[in-house]
Amino acid sequence: MQTTWNPTSWKEFPALQQPEWPDLAEYEATLKELATYPPLVFVNEIRTLQSALSMATQGKAFLLQAGDCAESFQDHSAQTIQHKLKVILQMAVVLTYSTGVPVIKVGRIAGQYAKPRSSPFEKYGDVELPSFRGHIVNSELPDFTARIPDPSRMVTAYQQSASSLNLIRSFTKGGFADLSKVHTWTQEFVASSAEGQRYEAVAFEIERALRFMAACGIDLSKEQVLQQVNFWTSHEALLLGYESALTRQDPATGKWYDLSAHTLWIGERTRDLNGAHLEFVSGISNPIGCKIGPNTTRDQILGICEKLNPRRIPGRLTLITRMGAEKITDILPSLVEAARDEGHPVLWTSDPMHGNTFSSSGSGLKTRSFDVILKELKGFFEVHKELGTWPGGVHIELTGEDVTECLGGAEEVLEHELDMNYNTICDPRLNGRQSLDLAYQVAEMLI
Ligand code: PEP
Ligand code: CO
Repeated sequence: MQTTWNPTSWKEFPALQQPEWPDLAEYEATLKELATYPPLVFVNEIRTLQSALSMATQGKAFLLQAGDCAESFQDHSAQTIQHKLKVILQMAVVLTYSTGVPVIKVGRIAGQYAKPRSSPFEKYGDVELPSFRGHIVNSELPDFTARIPDPSRMVTAYQQSASSLNLIRSFTKGGFADLSKVHTWTQEFVASSAEGQRYEAVAFEIERALRFMAACGIDLSKEQVLQQVNFWTSHEALLLGYESALTRQDPATGKWYDLSAHTLWIGERTRDLNGAHLEFVSGISNPIGCKIGPNTTRDQILGICEKLNPRRIPGRLTLITRMGAEKITDILPSLVEAARDEGHPVLWTSDPMHGNTFSSSGSGLKTRSFDVILKELKGFFEVHKELGTWPGGVHIELTGEDVTECLGGAEEVLEHELDMNYNTICDPRLNGRQSLDLAYQVAEMLI
């Protein structure tokens, strides 16, 4: 179907995974109100991220995209946000220090509230309830009324995104991310572990290098790049009404930007070439990600590239592979070749989590094994090494907290320990120690 793109032209296309709002008038009124709210991010920031991603597409930078599977309205304290930032900053330090490659830091944060679901219903014992679709739509509580989509949640999501972003900006620009503070990013439960101690050694070396520069007469207090960090926001562009309400035209260039986040991605379930989601993101100028699962074909890859990046701008399109550890080495090579042979600049990144989720046999809790996550990452790096292409980044679900949601890691989480601190409202996340461990392993794969 051909239409001229505008922020609501997606409505002419089939839109999967949209809630059934009980009161359409209330839903439309909420969108109208959201459209009057100030943007959450600014066009110049998006352009800076776009050029950083362009460097990554050319093999000169590495993307670290990480955060919760689903952010929670209940759990967005300063401490939770700070802990998440700390662990991502630590991972970035490990990666940069070990590989010498600049790391672009993108959080699944300040807007990651909408979830696609495999089934519209889920079972709690004998009771079947409408599925939880993320806090921007309904509540995770197992109660029929709590599951009814509520448009006012979109306003709360906007407000929570704004307050999270405000804190992120002050942490990253106000001194907390200063490289001379690398020691202070380690949380207590991480400090005592093997990964924590390995990190301390790196932090010590960085401090020594800074002291050396100061002794040579470099005034470090004047070096902004040492004191501030660029930290970008992202979420899945799933709820199209919300995204289009926050889409604005840049008066200087006439281009459209979705100003709810710096970059957005399309999920595996909604990446249909003729669907509403690809139509919507095809018209916005933010850098775009697209998840690709094990059933992706060469034709689909080329279709996505043509639709989302017809002008072949490096950094515009990131393809996030989530194939499963057993399948990646078989499936990925021909897809990478297809894009390369057609001259499409793609930033290839690996989400080693979503193809490797299973239910623990004892507790029934959804989990992932650290070793299997590493196996998919190894497969991803191996394929790119073989083809001479750049493994441009990783996409990870994690939290800074000491949770027990994923199995394994150097200080192993065992199957019977899963329910000790299982707090996620959606998919299982790596804890702070497992995340740092993963950063070291990725650094080794990259060099
Ligand atoms: C996610 O990133 O949380 C997600 C649902 O991923 P995917 O679309 O790859 O299943
Ligand atoms: Co997830």
